[in-house]
Amino acid sequence: MDEERSAFDWETRFAADDTPWERAGLHPAMLAWVEAGELQPGARVIIPGCGRSPELGFLAANGLDVTGADLSPTAIDFQRRQLDATGHDATLLKGDVLAHRPDTPYDRVYEQTFLCAIPPRLRVDYERALCDWLKPGGHLLALFMQKDVAGGPPYGCALPAMHQLFPEERWFWPDDDAFIAWPHPSLKGKPELAGVLVRR
Ligand SMILES: C[S@@+](CC[C@H](N)C(=O)[O-])C[C@H]1O[C@@H](n2cnc3c(N)ncnc32)[C@H](O)[C@@H]1O
Repeated sequence: MDEERSAFDWETRFAADDTPWERAGLHPAMLAWVEAGELQPGARVIIPGCGRSPELGFLAANGLDVTGADLSPTAIDFQRRQLDATGHDATLLKGDVLAHRPDTPYDRVYEQTFLCAIPPRLRVDYERALCDWLKPGGHLLALFMQKDVAGGPPYGCALPAMHQLFPEERWFWPDDDAFIAWPHPSLKGKPELAGVLVRR
């Protein structure tokens, strides 16, 4: 792993319980997507940079075929313990998710505070990985963190930059005004814009 990718020490943050991005409960955008039928039982879904977030266990409990991936062994071990405690299962990958290439493509990618957490120069690697992960017609359930000031995580994901990163040749976009803003309760209310991009 290169220096920039490891410059922010996620493992140390988890080990110290210094994790201000974590929500107290399930992300309301994910619940809205479940309600809308975006996350159906049986669907193959990957959660890159899953951390300790409870959405992984929730989706596994709801019958989805879930893969969670994270650099942090502490986070992955936490997810394993949670799954074991509830009797549900998921595939857990420890390591750099940007290098992950599944044998079978996914129907959905669900991520929260992952794209905004990786150094922006790695975004093109992420977009390439997403194209490889998703089957044609697969959905990226995107939560684009809105933050004006540049610098250390989270890095803002303004829509114009997202249009450049996810070009129309490879992605069907909803209208910009169809995105729903969900303020983050513990990141000073910074909004995440929720919208579904479809892999062509
Ligand atoms: C801001 S945290 C978000 C965690 C979780 N999604 C949540 O909402 O609570 C970013 C997560 O991405 C993970 N991460 C960062 N770069 C990664 C990479 N290249 N591969 C896998 N995980 C990564 C970190 O370990 C961390 O758990």
